[in-house]
Amino acid sequence: MMSSMIKLTAMLLAGQAVSAATIPSGAVSSSLTPRAAQVCYSGETAVLTCYTAPDNTPQGVTVADVSYVAAYLRSYGKQTKAGRMFTMNAADTPECAEWTLYTRNTVTALAKHISPPGVNSSVLFEDIANTIDGGASATDKQKQAALIGCLTDGGSLGVAYNTTNPAYSTAAYKAAGYVPDGILIKIVNSAGA
Ligand SMILES: *[C@@H]1O[C@H](CO)[C@@H](O)[C@H](O)[C@H]1NC(C)=O
Ligand SMILES: *[C@@H]1O[C@H](CO)[C@@H](O)[C@H](O)[C@H]1NC(C)=O
Repeated sequence: MMSSMIKLTAMLLAGQAVSAATIPSGAVSSSLTPRAAQVCYSGETAVLTCYTAPDNTPQGVTVADVSYVAAYLRSYGKQTKAGRMFTMNAADTPECAEWTLYTRNTVTALAKHISPPGVNSSVLFEDIANTIDGGASATDKQKQAALIGCLTDGGSLGVAYNTTNPAYSTAAYKAAGYVPDGILIKIVNSAGA
């Protein structure tokens, strides 16, 4: 489970200068490699699933760490005016690969590409952050609908993207054939990631 069987492309190692397809730089070294190949169609969907017993394995994460990871990714995403995007190209994500987005103490946030074969998905880091914590100033209801609503159990949820953000309708986004669907965020215990 801990091994990273596939080394990712040089693209990922290029760091902060790369506009698209960038993982937060200066994060953790594990952010530069995908996790071991995962079960591709294991029934994971975009619907919020908390890893709650007895059906799932509670991750024993700390809610403060979940908050921290979301805040970090939001801040990283907002470092450019248009908003940084996280891209999962089909060619780089065989077998529904999972990539580490960021790790903070007990928490690792993963992104899993669950789109149909051949589809390239790209979303704002800000929307990934919102998927995790419900928004920068989320109401209790918004938190409950986000991954942080799973509290210490962790869970998975498809990125809820902001359809009105112009980032999703730029000529460059369309020309690249990106879609905002197909990226699942998972909050797991960093010890097992
Ligand atoms: C969605 O994007 C629009 C345009 O950038 C912005 O005004 C709005 O606040 C965003 N909504 C959320 C929930 O982030
Ligand atoms: C996905 O991206 C690859 C390049 O990484 C490109 O060759 C391919 O045409 C793209 N697919 C779509 C559906 O746009």
